[in-house]
Formats: sequence, C-alpha cells, structure tokens
Amino acid sequence: MSMPFNARSGSGLTRELIEVLFPMFEQASAGAIAVDRHSRISWINARYARLLGLADPHSVIGRPVRSVIPHSRMPEVVESGQPLLVDIMEYHTQQLVVTRLPLFDELGRVSGAVAFVLYDDLQPLTPLVSKYRRLHQDLQAAKRALASHGRRTRYQLGDFAGATPAALEVKRRARLAAGRDMPVLLLGETGTGKEVLAQSIHALSSRAEGPFVGVNLAAIPDSLLEAEFFGVAPGAYTGADKRSREGKFQLANGGTLFLDEVGDMPLALQAKLLRVLQEQEVEPLGSNRVVPVNVRVMAATSRDLGAMVADGSFRSDLYYRLNVLEIAIPPLRQRLGDLGILCEVLLEEICAGGSRVEITDAGIAALGRYHWPGNIRELRNVLERAWTMSEEAELLDAGLIDRVLPLAGPEPAGEPVLPEPSATPGVRPLAEVLARAEAEAIHAALEQAGGNRTQAARLLGISRSVFYDKLARHS
Ligand SMILES: Nc1ncnc2c1ncn2[C@@H]1O[C@H](COP(=O)(O)OP(=O)(O)OP(=O)(O)O)[C@@H](O)[C@H]1O
Ligand SMILES: [Mg+2]
Repeated sequence: MSMPFNARSGSGLTRELIEVLFPMFEQASAGAIAVDRHSRISWINARYARLLGLADPHSVIGRPVRSVIPHSRMPEVVESGQPLLVDIMEYHTQQLVVTRLPLFDELGRVSGAVAFVLYDDLQPLTPLVSKYRRLHQDLQAAKRALASHGRRTRYQLGDFAGATPAALEVKRRARLAAGRDMPVLLLGETGTGKEVLAQSIHALSSRAEGPFVGVNLAAIPDSLLEAEFFGVAPGAYTGADKRSREGKFQLANGGTLFLDEVGDMPLALQAKLLRVLQEQEVEPLGSNRVVPVNVRVMAATSRDLGAMVADGSFRSDLYYRLNVLEIAIPPLRQRLGDLGILCEVLLEEICAGGSRVEITDAGIAALGRYHWPGNIRELRNVLERAWTMSEEAELLDAGLIDRVLPLAGPEPAGEPVLPEPSATPGVRPLAEVLARAEAEAIHAALEQAGGNRTQAARLLGISRSVFYDKLARHS
C-alpha cells in the first residue's frame, strides 16, 4: 500500500515536513486513512483496515468515507480546510481517539484529508482522565469550602446567657429542636436573641457541617425576593447580568435556611415558599428545570403571626408548616433575674482585650427599673455607652447607669429621669446629640409598635430598609 500522496509532486518546506512526519505518525498510530477532495477513501493502511474489521482493504478504495465509517468527520475537514486535532469517534462498540488534518495541493486548495487513530481504546488515557477527575473534584471541594466560608455559625447554645426558669426553658426547647430535623419557629421581640438561638440550634444539629444561610425578609425589597430565594437561570434577564445566580435555597442545600422576619414575607412569595417546602425542589427564575434541595427551614419573627393568620396577611397553611416546633423567647423585662449574668457576659465581650469592668449590684438594680423595648441588644448598647463614659473606672454604678439609660426609662418605677442629671450640662457635639435623638426615636417607635419593625418604620416615616440600617447602626 502506498502513501496517500506522491512524495515527488510536492514542493516547499511544509510538504517536506509532512513527508518526514507522516511515516512516524503512521507507525506510531493504531491506523491511518486518507480521503480525496470528495471525501472518498483514497488510501488506508493495513492496521486501520484490521481495526475496522475489513476483510479486503482494496474494496473500500473510492467509496465515500461515511459509507465505511459512519461517524467519520473527514467530510467536515475537507469542507472547511481546518484540522480536527483531537476527537473521540465511535465505531461500533469502540471509541477511537483520532486526529484529522486537511491536505492541500500546490495551489493551496484542499485536496483531501488524512486521519490517524491515536488510541484504539481509552485505556492508555485512564491515568490522565482519572487525574483530571481528581483535580476537578478537589477544585469543586475547594470552591464549596470557599462558598461556605461565612456560612458558618457564630453562636453556640452556651452563648445564650440566662439561668432563670424562662431562659432554661428556651434552652431546653432549643436542644430538642437540634435533635430533630424539623421546622422551627422562633418568636420574640427585637433583640431577644432569635438569631443567637437559630445559629445555636443549627450548630448542635446533624446539619452542623452544612451551611447556615440567613435571609432577612424585611431588609430585601419585595421585587428582588424571588430571585434571592430561588436563584436565576443563565440568560433569564437580557440586562447586564446574564450569568446564573444561585438562590438561598440552593446555597443552604444540606444545611439550614434561616428565614428572619418571616412575617414580612409578601403573600405571593408565601405561596411559592409553601410549594418549595412541600416538594423540596426549587425552580430558578427563567428556567423550566427544577432543582431538588435538602434544606431545613427555621423561621423567626417579632410579629404576632397568629394575628396575621387571622387577618389574612399570613397564609395559615404556611404558618402550620413553619410552626412545627415553636420557641417563644421571653422579653428581657420578663426575665430581669438574668440581668446579672447577661451583664457579666456582655461586659466581657465589650471590653475584650481591655481592662475588666464590672457592674455594681445597685447598677444592676437600676437596669432592672427600665423596661427594655430593645431587649438584650439594647442592654448591650447601654452597657457599651456606660463603659465608654466610665473613664477608666472599674465599676459601673447606678449613677452612671441612670445617665446612659434612654430618657423614657425607668418606666415601671414611674419616676421620670432628667437628661444628664450630673456634672456635664450644656453643649455636646451635634453629631452625638443627633445620634442619640435618632436612637431614642427608634426605640420609642419600636415600643409604640410593640416590637413590630414594619410598623415602627411607618411611624417614623421611613422605609423598612432605612429603618434596619439605623437600627443596626444604633446596635
Ligand atoms: N441570651 C443571650 N445571651 C447573650 N447575648 C445575647 C442573648 N440574646 C441576645 N444576645 C445578644 O443580643 C444581640 C441581639 O441578638 P439577636 O440578633 O439574636 O436578636 P434577634 O432576636 O434576632 O433580634 P432582631 O429581632 O432585632 O433581629 C446580639 O448581640 C446577641 O449577641
Ligand atoms: Mg434577628
């Protein structure tokens, strides 16, 4: 059998190079074949004929290549003049790794093509393929670890300070919730520790190694909620962002999704959430594919969900699905017995690294006369302010506490407290005065709204997200 082209007819370096390389390729490969400009077989070596199981190689000369090798892509190469350097081709039950090159005549026109079978089985490639697979898996694992960074919890149950019967009951129920993979509903006024508890339950549960993903329904504009929850398929929007985005449900897969301020969820989304909880699958926006998810849902709210169900602003079917295990966290004013322990824990956090500050019994008693609409978050603020004003003193006393408590207190005792009763009368920096006025307005609004932040924002004439911003700043 002769070579597919006439060695003497060529001229120029390229052709000479091919003539040198060709025998090497032919030798090293598991088979070689050439076609003419009409993609008819013009040459085939004995090895390829054997591989294809042809009894008589001569019988195929002149036949269209596809009538002999159905999946051949030689016609493409002849058509385009472009090589196909590596390809896997099916032939009966075999998979052949092939390379295909166009051939040109003296005038530079395509005169045909030549193909070499590099491997007639994928066995020699196995180490390469498995190394690639291993690297790919490592990469995926690293990506997952990176993505779940920041999806870990900060709190453990031990961080929920308190030893009154009310606090112990909360912790007992939290432990119960950790042991069962069921939805949990956390109820409590603002600042009572719903987030602390949600994270603790996750950290104690069998999903602790999985992600903890929180989403605050009140802080995200309604129009973005659906994408935030269920994700976006690639090309769903024609705008700038054409990439796909994973929703919180997918991010929380294998772990816990914490629906904070669930009472602020619009009715339309409630229906969709219910469906996801029933089916355990989500459909990203702009896609017609459903993605199975394995997520434990915990929800929290400071609103009266029962009343919302009664007035139709919260779906009862969703309410019962979320409220399988309910944990009601009592407000601080109902567990004043925990003030001592809370002050100890909070002061330790506040002066972490610095010199230790303690609070006197009279100081704790002064705290006990206030009604704490902002609960433990507010207690933390008050202690922080006291610490800043303590000027290196090691003890926070009642006088100092009274000075830093908001103006509205101490209510239960009914004694109005005048602002700044002691030494520093008169002028303070404007920023400080404004910040304090803002903090007080926020607390007053929260109080009047019974802890309902949407309503508090409305009372102040600001949007929910601005309200959240300010609440966080004064926290
Ligand atoms: N039992 C507790 N022991 C110690 N610190 C607590 C406790 N409960 C809450 N805190 C602290 O109080 C602050 C508010 O807690 P958290 O954010 O969990 O409250 P929340 O109920 O989620 O409030 P909101 O409704 O405003 O979101 C945090 O700084 C938290 O560390
Ligand atoms: Mg919270």
